[in-house]
Amino acid sequence: MSLLKELERGLPTRVIGRKVRVYDVVTSTNDLLWELSDRGAEEGTAVFADGQTHGRGRLGRSWWSPTGKGIWMSVLLRPPTAEGAVPMTTIVGALATADAVRATTRLPALIRWPNDILVRGKKAAGVLVEARAAPNGRILVLGIGIDVNASRSEMPQDIAKLATSLSEEANEEINRLELAKSLLGELDRWYQIELEQDTETINQRWRSLSATLGSRIVLEQGRQRYEGTVFDVDVRFGLALRLDRGGIKHFRGEHVTVLDEA
Ligand code: BTN
Repeated sequence: MSLLKELERGLPTRVIGRKVRVYDVVTSTNDLLWELSDRGAEEGTAVFADGQTHGRGRLGRSWWSPTGKGIWMSVLLRPPTAEGAVPMTTIVGALATADAVRATTRLPALIRWPNDILVRGKKAAGVLVEARAAPNGRILVLGIGIDVNASRSEMPQDIAKLATSLSEEANEEINRLELAKSLLGELDRWYQIELEQDTETINQRWRSLSATLGSRIVLEQGRQRYEGTVFDVDVRFGLALRLDRGGIKHFRGEHVTVLDEA
């Protein structure tokens, strides 16, 4: 039985974490939660799985989800404002993940725009928000994957080059249950801040945890390439790039691929 089963008792949180379901191996916790949503699951319902056979990443990529080694979870949200809900919820998910990793492991987790959590320059977690239209607003599934206890030697080669796990960075096994509880608590806290539309609090924390702010990047939007220096991140306007060829341009995460960072 999964170590995470204890989460089903629920946490004394306001929205996220009150209803939790824990599964052994599923295709994808995002898919599972869409099914539960179709059957009337309430806002804040969270699902965890020990493993995923078809974990999904951003931009149609697959997400390696070894059984018993990570946090693979999704939560159902119905924010009242549809406009900007996806980028806002993506950053809220990233902030909650970074804060939970920091609180549980003391590792220096940072956020690489738009949805990666890095530890010492390598990706340790990712956030995937999917949205569907609903009669009154939008339904979102916020999926979070954290590489917790996989060793470098068991990672597929292409993943090992760019990614890490928390246990590799901390040099010790991490308690997944403690991390999962902390994550639910942080998600609940940051989601309340999102509901209050307190973008200043979100921006401030994001700027302090951003691995992207101040760095030079090359990014692609459609067929266009842009090079420049990131001089701000903001949930409403996105990433602000001072272009090498002159001028300033803002980008929203959904439509952009970061090709390189220097
Ligand atoms: C990314 O960095 O590309 C996002 C990765 C998101 C992975 C998580 S694991 C739990 C949830 N279920 C999925 O199929 N994907 C997300």
